[in-house]
Amino acid sequence: MGKLEETWMIVSVIILVIFMAIVGYQTFALGMGPPSNKDIIDPQKVDEQAPFDEPGVFEVGENKYEVVMTLETFAFNPGDIEVPVGAEVEFIMTSKDVSHGIQIPGTNLNAMVLPGHIQRITQVFNEPGEYLILCNEYCGIGHQAMFTKITVK
Ligand code: CUA
Repeated sequence: MGKLEETWMIVSVIILVIFMAIVGYQTFALGMGPPSNKDIIDPQKVDEQAPFDEPGVFEVGENKYEVVMTLETFAFNPGDIEVPVGAEVEFIMTSKDVSHGIQIPGTNLNAMVLPGHIQRITQVFNEPGEYLILCNEYCGIGHQAMFTKITVK
């Protein structure tokens, strides 16, 4: 092997190791890994399992809320949510049938919600108003009708 060839091989391995160290640090030390895919649930029995046996909006602390939500063709349950301005809202979601998505335009909230998995996302709503909640994952014939809203006031 030529000297130059060897040098570049070593350099590229070093670069790879540096990248892996950076990504590993971000994921494990800073907790920046993907938040989903940690909790699983039997998608056939969503209604019988806590917390999804009781979907709804719950106040869990000082201006902290939990929205326990199920997604199904073609609805969000609960729909028409209301939270106060500045509230920190954790959405805890799962799908009862096929793959859905949740997106709230104007915020960073955008995720897939898959059957068999529990998706958790926290969002702070600092601006009052009505926000659209929509499904952004094609889920069947009624996909375009799958939306609701969250009112912040
Ligand atoms: Cu649910 Cu598209």
